[in-house]
Amino acid sequence: MPDSPSISELAERRLSRRTAMAGGLATATAAFFGAAGPAATASAGTAENVSRGAGRRLLGFPAIAPSVADEVVLPPGYRYQVLFPWGHPIVPSGPAFAEDAGNSAAEQALQAGDHHDGMWFFPLKGRRSGLLCVNHEATTEQLLHTDGLATWSPEKTAKSMAAHGVSVIEVEQDRKGRWRLVESRFARRVTMTTPTEITGPAAGHPLMRTGADPGGVGVLGTLNNCASGPTPWDTYLTCEETINKYFYFGEQPPRAGSVEERYGIGSESPYPWYGTEERFDMRVEPNEYNRFGWVVELDPFDPTSTPKKRTALGRMEHENAVVVRGRRGEAVVYMGDDTQFDYFYKFVGAEPISKALRRGRSPLDEGTLYVARFEEDGSGRWLPLVHGEPGLTEANGFADQAEVLIRTRLAADAVGATPMDRPEWCTVQPRTGAVFFTCTNNTARTESVNAANPRLENRFGHIMKIDEGRNPSAETFDWDVFLLAGDQASGATVPPDQAFGSPDGLWFDADGRLWIQTDGAQPKIDGAEQNNQMLAADTRRGDIRRFLVGPPRCEITGITSTPDRRSLFVNIQHPGDSGTPEDPRAGSSWPDHSTTGRPRSATIVVTREDGGVVGG
Ligand code: FEO
Ligand code: CA
Ligand code: CA
Repeated sequence: MPDSPSISELAERRLSRRTAMAGGLATATAAFFGAAGPAATASAGTAENVSRGAGRRLLGFPAIAPSVADEVVLPPGYRYQVLFPWGHPIVPSGPAFAEDAGNSAAEQALQAGDHHDGMWFFPLKGRRSGLLCVNHEATTEQLLHTDGLATWSPEKTAKSMAAHGVSVIEVEQDRKGRWRLVESRFARRVTMTTPTEITGPAAGHPLMRTGADPGGVGVLGTLNNCASGPTPWDTYLTCEETINKYFYFGEQPPRAGSVEERYGIGSESPYPWYGTEERFDMRVEPNEYNRFGWVVELDPFDPTSTPKKRTALGRMEHENAVVVRGRRGEAVVYMGDDTQFDYFYKFVGAEPISKALRRGRSPLDEGTLYVARFEEDGSGRWLPLVHGEPGLTEANGFADQAEVLIRTRLAADAVGATPMDRPEWCTVQPRTGAVFFTCTNNTARTESVNAANPRLENRFGHIMKIDEGRNPSAETFDWDVFLLAGDQASGATVPPDQAFGSPDGLWFDADGRLWIQTDGAQPKIDGAEQNNQMLAADTRRGDIRRFLVGPPRCEITGITSTPDRRSLFVNIQHPGDSGTPEDPRAGSSWPDHSTTGRPRSATIVVTREDGGVVGG
């Protein structure tokens, strides 16, 4: 048996420190111990038990039941429309979707990509309209082409690359409340062939240079665009996540302990791109993969603008990027690295946002990248990843700051960051400035636990909370486990009838509702399976309710709303999850429910029949 402290021992250590510091934790979290039932005694003190409590209601809808239906299920009084499924043209006059997947690569480049993920709504002034930026994280190749993966060709590589990236579309709402796409000068697709600029400390570095780009400053495309975040200066950040699976290393995997191994490069690539595009073959072009794994900034209001890879924010399997203003008006960016035993990060800009913009500089190109260390007693530190600091010198394999950033994970290893259970989305609570982030799951944690990752074989995940004392620029913080997901047997702190697993998407709306989206294993409820889902929580009153359930095998991800919070945009990713190799359509036929078509990832819009605030 692993020699690890129990959950209650870990909680005790943390509580004793915090009780001493703050005169008792009971007051702060009393609301969350309300009607939590057995969970409250099973793990009291480990996390804020979330119940469906009483009091002034931030959540005004009845919780819905779990579902396994091939449909999107919502509370009574709510409705949804499918706005932007894979293959939908980005303007009404664009190429129509062919349900046999017969669209060419050139047509795909003018249509919605696949696997919708993070997104953001940028309102346009004076009208019920706005620009919607939507990430297309990946593809299901079996469904993307008429004959799937058979007879791979340059055209198939081109179509697959065109189905990745970002869509910018203009949408407007009619008098009946229906949303639609309009012809727009802003509409564009960013794909794996869009010229993209490398900026910040790693630009031009020898590790960023390739045969096609000897200067190391320009790269074609952005890849595996997972989640996202808006900036206070009205641009969009799209985050490159699982980039390793697109590169072919050769028949032998990278050696143990190598940089490539640390970045998840294996001997195989499930994407056959390298067969027709040499830049994805690491035997031919070893540096191309260094040019992916970054946060990319896009100006949706300038359709001719060049996306920028902001290297000061580090290179990892980025999930999302949440930007707030620090004490001096500088940009502070919170970010997770979604891999088992990887880390949570923060970037603090070197100068105020306004000053940088006034001088034509990016607020994201100069500053300090930190990685989080979570101490057992509930305190924490942001450890700077700065060249020359102990562990980050030439003797340790980091020649300069660019190498620290290109190999962020190794730098974080060297300074003693806390390995986490797959940090995915983060979000900042509007009222308190507290930072919440999901640790989606980690079944590989078989050896030992720690206070911030308190469960062995963490199948259902948890949500963390960081309190920096309302100072995003701080180098220290307090932290707690906000909730443990899963079923009662796993020690969850969620009421049994609202049980969920694998929290991934996470977003506080402007009213303070915490929206939680899931991707992965869900606990059974009374022995019954459930599809992935979205819940809303009132963190102050200890109230959590299931709001939406998706079709089978999808993940729910991506969330944004209109400023009046009366239209909520949500993404349904990979419904059916490609079924089986023999029948890729077996898992789901949502949203078209056509006998000849295929399931499609899609952006939906959720509204209330009475026109009220969604969730309220
Ligand atoms: Fe793209 Fe970690 O999810
Ligand atoms: Ca995710
Ligand atoms: Ca996930």
